[in-house]
Amino acid sequence: MCGIIGFTGKLQAAEILVGGLEQLEYRGYDSAGIAVNENDQTKIVKTTGKVANLREKVSTADDISGTCGIGHTRWATHGGVTDTNAHPHVSGNVTLIHNGIIENYKELAASLKEKGYFAVSETDTEVAAMLIDSLYTGDPFTALREADKILEGAYGFCVMFKDHPGEIYCMRNASPLVASYTEDGAFIASDMVALLKYTKDYFVVPEEHIVVMTQDAITLYTMDEKVEEPKMLHVDWDTTAAQKGGYAYFMQKEIYDQPEALHNTVMPRLHNGHADFSADNISDDIFKGINRVVVTACGTAMHAGLIGRHLIESMLRIPVTVELSSEFRYMNPILDENTLVIVVTQSGETADSLAALRLANERGAKTISIVNVKGSSIARESDYVLYTHAGPEIAVASTKAFSVQCAGMYLIALKLAEINQMMSEEEMADYCAKFEEAIATVEDVLKMDDYIKGIAEKIKDTFSAFYLGRSLDFGIASEGSLKLKEISYVNSEAYNAGELKHGTISLVTEGVPIIAIATQDHVLSKLMANVEEVKARGAHVIMVTDKDMSAYDGIYDDLIQVPEVDDKFGTFGVTVALQLLAYHVTVFRGYDVDQPRNLAKSVTVE
Ligand code: F6R
Repeated sequence: MCGIIGFTGKLQAAEILVGGLEQLEYRGYDSAGIAVNENDQTKIVKTTGKVANLREKVSTADDISGTCGIGHTRWATHGGVTDTNAHPHVSGNVTLIHNGIIENYKELAASLKEKGYFAVSETDTEVAAMLIDSLYTGDPFTALREADKILEGAYGFCVMFKDHPGEIYCMRNASPLVASYTEDGAFIASDMVALLKYTKDYFVVPEEHIVVMTQDAITLYTMDEKVEEPKMLHVDWDTTAAQKGGYAYFMQKEIYDQPEALHNTVMPRLHNGHADFSADNISDDIFKGINRVVVTACGTAMHAGLIGRHLIESMLRIPVTVELSSEFRYMNPILDENTLVIVVTQSGETADSLAALRLANERGAKTISIVNVKGSSIARESDYVLYTHAGPEIAVASTKAFSVQCAGMYLIALKLAEINQMMSEEEMADYCAKFEEAIATVEDVLKMDDYIKGIAEKIKDTFSAFYLGRSLDFGIASEGSLKLKEISYVNSEAYNAGELKHGTISLVTEGVPIIAIATQDHVLSKLMANVEEVKARGAHVIMVTDKDMSAYDGIYDDLIQVPEVDDKFGTFGVTVALQLLAYHVTVFRGYDVDQPRNLAKSVTVE
């Protein structure tokens, strides 16, 4: 949510900033801007719309040379999408970009007014710039530290001070920042993908720290100005993983990345019929004596929790609740040391999920997170982390991250079973074999791409759609529906199939697509009875299943039949089919698949 980048060194900054913002655009694309400093001159170019607009404007701008600068791509929170509200913002000595939300900006704006500060934009960020300027008496560090005491909310800032040319001061409380130094100079960004062209080595700026970037060095400080040695990390995926690599969209590429992502996440952790977390340094103790599991997450990641719930409850008889992190943090949850809280997150930075994790830690629950981004806040603050190895996910709509999150749930379920002696050796070996078989079918589902595209074309003009599923399939349906609605803008909802006739069936009219998911034998006949009910009302029924549906000929209009797997593992193949369906509907409708309106990846504000 908002992408920020800064560079100071030997190279021209403008190209580094604009190029970096192109990589960060998935974090927000309402407006973009850069500020480049040369000697005592700071030039700003900013504009509404995507980074392409900024690139165009920079290419025709008067001299924008300089080797120190900051850049921002915005997901609007306070104030509309206008040039004036675009970052960077300037106040007196200060030029600043910001990711996050300043919650007390109204009070601050009122008190700063008395000191003669008047905002020109409607943003909370400009108030932060004014505050820092008002506290500035020549020492940037002190001004930032004092501002940190006053500001409430979440922030990652990069700040240039007029009388400190060639230097960038960055401060983080909650919003993520990563930094690096190479022989070309010092770099900082919200996400490593922006810096991959220049380096694969980096450090995560810890919360409540300040980074000072000069042309010759980068230094990490605690708030009381002590130098701290940064903990260096290395990007271990290929840099081409963050490129489209010949695919039309990142989402399409990421759908196709799934066999590898699943293989990398699952196979190193299955050994001789056991889940092996030794390379993850996850102690078995965390799974001992657990009498309750709470999964907390947002959006797609929450749907992985629904899959986990079904699995753990049906297989292990341990009660599981799945809580949206945005609610969990305010519902005074009942947690104790026998509760295992699983936080699921691709970015590891989702503000609500981070707050939920902190609450769980505070209340003494055991915490484990399933995270894709290494070194992210949630990974660092959980008792243990099970990393998913999906590589970077750039498209705003999550695809491969969901599949590997589900895989993480299947691994944890197996581990829980083993530690609490709930499955025999034979059952565990059988589970592992079937798990492997299921993830291998994803390759075959990808081969159905053109066929699924043909079905997508039939429903491309619909206004609404409904996804139906029972038991495990409700989780799959929920994710399939979110995928369709968020990128194609089709008004889509997922329902437990039996629930439709308690109200929503009144919306089913001639031709409305009903996508029915059927991977669970024990509820198949019940599901099909519900399908008959909608068919009788003229729905266009698309069955998505791994079952032989010949007994139900005539009840459905289209059939997407993926390779059959054990019912427990129905998630993987069908999920990929639904992702392809959503993708193709969106392409037919002519929308930008990777950057749907109003959305941003990595929601670092509440
Ligand atoms: C939808 C999507 C979102 C995220 C949600 C949580 O396609 O990507 O619903 O799943 O914002 O994000 P993470 O997983 O980063 O916590």
